[in-house]
Amino acid sequence: MRTDLSDSFGIDFGLFAFNYMPDVVIEVCKAGGLGVLGAVRFTPAELKEALDYIEAGVGGRPYGVDVVMPMKTEAKAGMDVDSMQEMLQGMIPQEHKDFVESVLEKYDVPKLPEGRHQQGRGLLSWNDTEAREQVAISLERKQVKLIVNALGPPPKDVVDEAHSGGVRVAALCGRLDHAMKQVANGVDIIVAQGTEAGGHSGDIATMILVPEIVEALSSTPVLAAGGIGSGRQAAAAYALGAQGVWTGSMWLNTVECGQSDIMQKKFHEARSQDAVRSRAYTGKMARQLRTDWTEAWDSPDNPDPLGMPLQYMLCSEALERIRLAGREELMGTPIGQLVGSFKETRTVAETVATLLADYEKTVSALPRLSSKELLS
Ligand SMILES: Cc1cc2nc3c(=O)[nH]c(=O)nc-3n(C[C@H](O)[C@H](O)[C@H](O)COP(=O)(O)O)c2cc1C
Repeated sequence: MRTDLSDSFGIDFGLFAFNYMPDVVIEVCKAGGLGVLGAVRFTPAELKEALDYIEAGVGGRPYGVDVVMPMKTEAKAGMDVDSMQEMLQGMIPQEHKDFVESVLEKYDVPKLPEGRHQQGRGLLSWNDTEAREQVAISLERKQVKLIVNALGPPPKDVVDEAHSGGVRVAALCGRLDHAMKQVANGVDIIVAQGTEAGGHSGDIATMILVPEIVEALSSTPVLAAGGIGSGRQAAAAYALGAQGVWTGSMWLNTVECGQSDIMQKKFHEARSQDAVRSRAYTGKMARQLRTDWTEAWDSPDNPDPLGMPLQYMLCSEALERIRLAGREELMGTPIGQLVGSFKETRTVAETVATLLADYEKTVSALPRLSSKELLS
C-alpha cells in the first residue's frame, strides 16, 4: 500500500484515517498511517488541547486536521459566533421544536439532568469564523501536514495560507465537477468519496467515482473513500487508480473510539442496508444508522428537516438526552454501508494489521488473473 503519496508524507502506507477521537488518530499514526482529527466538535481551546495530546502520543510523526467549511449554509461568514448562534436560533420554527419534543415524549426520553448542559455546541464549527480559527491553530503545529475540508471548496486564501506553511490541503468530493472546482481552488489532494461512505455523501458509488476522477485529474493524487475497511477493498481502490485510501466508518469499531456498549451492539447487528442517507442529522444528506429518529424525520407526514446548520442546532440537545437515557431505538450515528461487515470491536493496531495482511493476500493472488498467466 506504499505509494509516492504516502512516501511524500513520510508514512509507511497510504492509509488515511478520519476520526474525532485523538486516541484513534495517535494509534493510526503509530501503526504507520496518517491519522486525521475531525475538528468540527471542538472549540478552539479544546482543539489546542487535543493537538497537544496527539503530539505527546505520536512521537514526532505527522498527522492531519479536518475542518468543515460548508459552501451552502445559513451561517454567515465573518460574523461573531455568539451573534451568529442567536440569529440562527431565531430561524428555527416552533413547529420543528414541537415535533422534536413530541418524538422525545413518545419514547419517554427524560429532560437533561439538573445542571447538565448540552454537550457540544449546536452550531459546532460549521461556520467560516470558527473553521478559520481551527485552521490557524492547526497551522501553528509543525507536525500537522494535511488540512482536509468537506462540503465544498475551501476558500482560496485558506489554501494559500496552508501552502505558505508547507501544508497540503485535501478536500472531499462526491462528483467530478466538484473535484475540478477543488483543484481550480488550489487543493492538492482529492478525496473521491462514494455514496457508500458514512457522513455527508453524494449518490455516486466509489467504483464509478474514483476512476472517473483519477482519469480526469491525471496530475492530482486521489484518495479513494467510501466503503473501504478491508484489504480487499483497499486493493480495489488501488486498482481504480487511487494513491491511498481515506477511511472513516471502520474506526468507529475500534476500542480507542470509545463507543458505548449499546452502539457497539447496534453496529454488530446492523446490515449494510441499515446505513441510510437521511437529512435527519445535519439537514444535508448524510449516511447514518437507520433508527426510529431517522424514520421519524424521513416520514412525509412530519416536518421536513431544516437546512444546515439549523437541523443539528435544533436536534443536538435531543440527541444528548437520547444518548444519556440510552434509548436504543433512537440512538444512531453517521456511518457507512461498511457497518454490515463489522465484527467484534478491536484495537486500532489490530485493525490496521488485519487490513494490511488482507491486502497482501489479495494483491499476491492477483497475478494469477493476468492474461499472461491465464494463457500459459
Ligand atoms: C461518524 C462520522 C463522522 C464524520 N464526520 C466528518 C467530518 O466532520 N468531516 C469530514 O470531512 N468527513 C466526515 N466524515 C466522513 C469521513 O471523513 C469519510 O469520508 C467517510 O467516512 C469515508 O467513508 P467510509 O465511512 O465508508 O469509510 C464522517 C464520517 C463518519 C463515519
